[in-house]
Amino acid sequence: MCGIVGILGSQPVAPLMLDALRRLEYRGYDSAGIATLEDGELMRQRAPGKLNNLQGVLASRPLAGTTGIGHTRWATHGAPTENNAHPHAAKGVAVVHNGIIENFRELREELEQAGCDFETETDTEVIVQMISCELADGKSPVDAVKATLKRLDGAFALGIIFSGEQDLMIGARRGSPLAVGHGEAEMFLGSDAVALAPFTNKVTFLDEGDWVVLTRKSVHIFDENGAPVKRPVRFTKATAYMADKGNHRHFMAKEIAEQPEVIGHTLGEYIDMGEKRVKLPDLPFNFAGLSRLTITACGTAYYAGLAAKYWFEQVARLPVDIDIASEFRYREAPLAEGGLSVVISQSGETADTLAALRYCAEQGQHTLGIVNVQDSSIARDCDAIMPTYAGPEIGVASTKAFTCQLTVLACLALAAARDRNTITAERERELVSALLKVPRQIADMLRHEDDLKRIAKKLTDATDVLFLGRGINYPIALEGALKLKEISYIHAEGYAAGELKHGPIALIDKDVRVIVIAPHDALYEKTVSNMEEVAARGAKIVLLTDEINGNGNGSGTFEQFRVPKANAFVNPILYAVPVQLLAYHAAVFMGTDIDQPRNLAKSVTVE
Ligand code: G6P
Repeated sequence: MCGIVGILGSQPVAPLMLDALRRLEYRGYDSAGIATLEDGELMRQRAPGKLNNLQGVLASRPLAGTTGIGHTRWATHGAPTENNAHPHAAKGVAVVHNGIIENFRELREELEQAGCDFETETDTEVIVQMISCELADGKSPVDAVKATLKRLDGAFALGIIFSGEQDLMIGARRGSPLAVGHGEAEMFLGSDAVALAPFTNKVTFLDEGDWVVLTRKSVHIFDENGAPVKRPVRFTKATAYMADKGNHRHFMAKEIAEQPEVIGHTLGEYIDMGEKRVKLPDLPFNFAGLSRLTITACGTAYYAGLAAKYWFEQVARLPVDIDIASEFRYREAPLAEGGLSVVISQSGETADTLAALRYCAEQGQHTLGIVNVQDSSIARDCDAIMPTYAGPEIGVASTKAFTCQLTVLACLALAAARDRNTITAERERELVSALLKVPRQIADMLRHEDDLKRIAKKLTDATDVLFLGRGINYPIALEGALKLKEISYIHAEGYAAGELKHGPIALIDKDVRVIVIAPHDALYEKTVSNMEEVAARGAKIVLLTDEINGNGNGSGTFEQFRVPKANAFVNPILYAVPVQLLAYHAAVFMGTDIDQPRNLAKSVTVE
């Protein structure tokens, strides 16, 4: 899940590539580098750490040249050092690579036995050394790449330039996304359309197994068997607009604050406001005849799917199988032909989710993608998509995309219930009305952000934080724990409140904080009993609930925060917000890098 860019340009490309890499930093930010051809000679600058470091290096030693490739890295093989940073180069060739070469050890051994000296610990260097050997054997650049691609196993996207070849760039895609941007006597390669947006909106997305030979005036695409193929040129909607933080200190804060607006926008797409009924786009399937629904996703998107399981089962009486995509893809789950699989992904590029989707399609399932990026691989591969209208999400920790995913899934569950005759029109209107109130209710909560900030400070000296929830709020407990650990690095776990006594309760002592998600729904009394059990063992409890009173909320509560009272149906969307804000403010107090937490990436395009 590194970011790749390549330019065959008409002006010096290094500054342009730096700008494109900034748009790709969501894919990784362990190190970055650029290679250009200066008078036909390969020159490189690389730097460990974020892109600003590379910018500093380029300021003191600029790179000239109108042909270049660039890379921002999320380390897989080899530490994030300058030496392991891309582009990698050997005699005559430089390569940027996103993905993993699975057979790199055997290829490296073979090359070492043939006398190649390796400079790095990366899997990428085997590609460089192989191409270089093929060139030394007298092959043309195109034939050298073709021979090398045949030997590579794994998932990858590549951008390749050659010394002395000012008007040539080769790209290849297997598993990881890669797009060609068409300019006026200029040509571009990029991991996504957003990276290319400042240069062109005419984009060709390479298909699985494709490789492409570019000059400034030509694009020749070949499939995995080497046969020439045509792929459509699309006009993308990706904009060159670089999101900014507005008045906020971090993108995450801005994205949390945007939720009333983007959830409202998403509801506007899927609800007939006059009728107060769900209105979906035409979908090439119907829920009426389905016996099961399969949902797969990763990370935060998976928790959205987990909440949706409760909606589909309770409201539409449709059994749901949900799994993490990295497990599902190898599980060999039997799926009924003609059934429906839903995949959920903010980026639309998560490698495991994409593989799960392909498995479902191979089993003859209809596929529906809930994606935020409409130009993404998952969006293109699904039979139908229901976009979330969250807008670009920059903070690595997903917030507004999550609540928009929940919003879309709630609408989908209502549509399924209608198809299956498990809901009356009156009940549908009641639940739609509850959904329509959510933007205002979130706005109300955001006005009390300072209370959550104060509470968050009290989490920062905890050894562990446990999030407890029951029923449809259990996935929010999981999401709350994920948010807190990923950005503040405080250890946190989410548990179903009823499961606590089967193990986790052993952890409880005065240094543990317990966040209890307990709206007054059908399970409220049970959750409060579980809360009493931890209170009795000395834990400090933060209660998130919708009615605060002096005695009804159980004893031992350390802090409380009031969430607007709502129909239980929409509670997961509402309770997502305070757990996001607790994580955000705890991280501010801890002084971590909130928008780009260590070791993480926004888009995970490797397994
Ligand atoms: C990464 C991100 C998470 C995200 C997950 C799934 O781990 O850091 O925030 O939830 O990938 O991403 P997707 O784009 O498929 O929703």
